[in-house]
Amino acid sequence: MNSTDTAKTPKGLFIRTYGCQMNVYDSERMRDVLRPLGYAPVDGPEHADLVVVNTCHIREKATEKVYSELGQLKKMKEASGGRMTIAVAGCVAQAEGEELIRRQPAVDLVLGPQAYHKLPEMIARASRAVGDRLETEFDTQEKFDALPKARDVDGPAAFLSVQEGCDKFCTFCVVPYTRGAELSRSVDDIIVEARSLAAQGVREISLLGQNVNAFHGAAPAIEGGPDWTLGQLCRHIAKIGGIDRIRYTTSHPRDMDDDLIAAHGDTPAMMPFLHLPVQSGSDRILKAMNRGHTAAEFHEIIAKVRTVRPGIALASDFIVGFPGETDEDFEATMELVRKTGFAIAYSFKYSQRPGTPAAEMFGQVPEDVKDARLQALQALLRDQQTAFNAEQIGQTLDILVTGRGRMPGQVHGRSPYMQAVHFDGPADLIGQVASVRISGSSLNSLTGEFITAREAAA
Ligand code: 5AD
Ligand code: SF4
Repeated sequence: MNSTDTAKTPKGLFIRTYGCQMNVYDSERMRDVLRPLGYAPVDGPEHADLVVVNTCHIREKATEKVYSELGQLKKMKEASGGRMTIAVAGCVAQAEGEELIRRQPAVDLVLGPQAYHKLPEMIARASRAVGDRLETEFDTQEKFDALPKARDVDGPAAFLSVQEGCDKFCTFCVVPYTRGAELSRSVDDIIVEARSLAAQGVREISLLGQNVNAFHGAAPAIEGGPDWTLGQLCRHIAKIGGIDRIRYTTSHPRDMDDDLIAAHGDTPAMMPFLHLPVQSGSDRILKAMNRGHTAAEFHEIIAKVRTVRPGIALASDFIVGFPGETDEDFEATMELVRKTGFAIAYSFKYSQRPGTPAAEMFGQVPEDVKDARLQALQALLRDQQTAFNAEQIGQTLDILVTGRGRMPGQVHGRSPYMQAVHFDGPADLIGQVASVRISGSSLNSLTGEFITAREAAA
């Protein structure tokens, strides 16, 4: 069989994705990398020739899930007579390396987040049982350069990775160790990818990065000049025909520069939604976390953003039970939440991660205290979310319709504020922006009545 025949033989690919949106994007890109080899997605691991588990290392629970999933895959591999190849990708692969193969010998390949462009070569090596089964080198630039420029996407909303890695070294976080140093893609590369998305009917692009607002990508070749900021990039993407919604995630308060804030006011395509993790409301804890800002500075940023974009929905991340956190520190977090008002927020119990400075700190907080604080914080956040959703009743919102609803004749989509919205409407609305009058709300979604469809931005 020659190499062309190999490329034509259909092979089943199943990718299980854990963790953040960056991993969702990486999984899509792995599909792009594997497509020319004849791999096509199948709907379950039991039908797959290649299973990739794209992992998350951020909290202990996420890591544990990987090993239990690998145990199940081992059984399927045995049932397949060994035909199945099992690859572990992502941040657990980066952090655990060889240890993964030792703990679960059914694993054939281990590749870190900067190595997935090497999958074809690794698969070839595995099939011949020669060479390394592990790729955890950090060469983010090489990966960016090697990725296929063309994307193959489904639906009107897509992720686009513009920056990777992190140099902030928050004391609780594994990301600087698993994703490596901060690196931005060049503006030219990003624009090529954004145009290819627009050409496939994408209307909303979410720019991704671990620290996306620290973006400083090489300026377009025709302009030369210094690196571009995220604000400049967003304004430029807004001019691409068909793209009428831009989001970015996830950002750091320290990188919320004035130009990016101004872009929220002067660029209508930038959606009125900002995810700005703050983690804690206590200056003492923020310092111990090495966040590099105070609660007052966070409030100042929010005030500036609200001045240029009144009504913007705010989202954030919180950690409770960081080492040394007292009742008073926790109360400061509750106070920050009450003062700010969030449309949605993600909150977690602090998880000790091996190799991070906070894991070695004195004053680790007992599990029951963490539990109680998490419950109190989540109750407050739920109330704010419910209230924010209820505020939309009576408003007419532009909804990007992303798919069919659960009920016959229903479709669903997303509001500018990231809320899920269900309404009765024809299926040919999918992919379009619809004007919808909101008539009902709950904690997690809105309902409404379809008014009219809107043309894509020219
Ligand atoms: N424990 C708990 N939560 C964490 N996060 C990151 N590291 C940890 C940890 N060790 C949370 C932060 C971050 C989000 C992606 O995950 O809130 O913003
Ligand atoms: Fe982790 Fe902090 Fe970097 Fe975010 S900014 S990825 S929390 S180290």
